[in-house]
Amino acid sequence: MSAVIAIASGKGGTGKTTVCACLSVALSRAGKRVLAVDCDFGLRNLDLALGLGETAVFDLADAINGICAPEDAVIVHPKHKTLHFICAPQDERKADFTPAAFATFVRELEMKYDYVLLDCPASLGHAFDCAVAAANEAILVTIPQSYALRDTEKIADVVTERGIERARLLVNMVRPRHINRGYSKNIDDIIDAVALPLLGVAPYDENISAYQNRRMDIMDDPSLVSERAFDNIARRIMGERVPILKFRNGRLR
Ligand SMILES: Nc1ncnc2c1ncn2[C@@H]1O[C@H](COP(=O)(O)OP(=O)(O)OP(=O)(O)O)[C@@H](O)[C@H]1O
Ligand SMILES: [Mg+2]
Repeated sequence: MSAVIAIASGKGGTGKTTVCACLSVALSRAGKRVLAVDCDFGLRNLDLALGLGETAVFDLADAINGICAPEDAVIVHPKHKTLHFICAPQDERKADFTPAAFATFVRELEMKYDYVLLDCPASLGHAFDCAVAAANEAILVTIPQSYALRDTEKIADVVTERGIERARLLVNMVRPRHINRGYSKNIDDIIDAVALPLLGVAPYDENISAYQNRRMDIMDDPSLVSERAFDNIARRIMGERVPILKFRNGRLR
């Protein structure tokens, strides 16, 4: 069975789309067959995060509603051939299918892939319901901030209630200096607050938005600690026993 992973958060802007794009590239680079699906109906941007631009002719609503065949909505990444992508409808009103119909659509495609990553919008709602209906795992992306943690606790409860077998936490935008000065929560406090197993941590890295704005891929640059962090997380998703990156001398290593 493929791993169908909903990437969700309570709060907006925690980095779900960035995480989805980086993990998709890292998994595909490791030889896995990956399908990345943009579930942010109406506000899609996973296409941009994957460096694909406006190349999609059909979106997932077209495929679910029978306007095109499911495979017609699948785009093969030009650089990473085992990474495929389906974009969200740009008009939210097109997403008038049920969560069950979305889950059936994903089930029909999933056997071709090792991993299906579903990039959710923030919080609860129709797109979240769809993603969670299709998923058997979840990655909850949070940032080390008390508001985000409270919302993550809530989403963690909902994901568990909905029968997701495996939910793990990814703490993004971690700034060691802020932790050392007590400006932000430390990782142990975050794990205690959310009570989910930790999948990994990624540092705050200003290169990420700079690279995204210049349509460059941070996963192409192994000199970046964020590239190594996402690669480390992808390895843990694949079941490799690699330790989570640790903070040493103010940096993740
Ligand atoms: N680790 C990071 N370090 C620095 N900036 C980051 C990091 N992760 C994401 N960002 C930046 O944060 C912003 C929000 O990221 P992103 O769009 O991935 O979040 P999101 O959770 O998908 O947002 P939304 O809830 O709106 O869907 C972007 O400008 C992105 O470049
Ligand atoms: Mg997003």
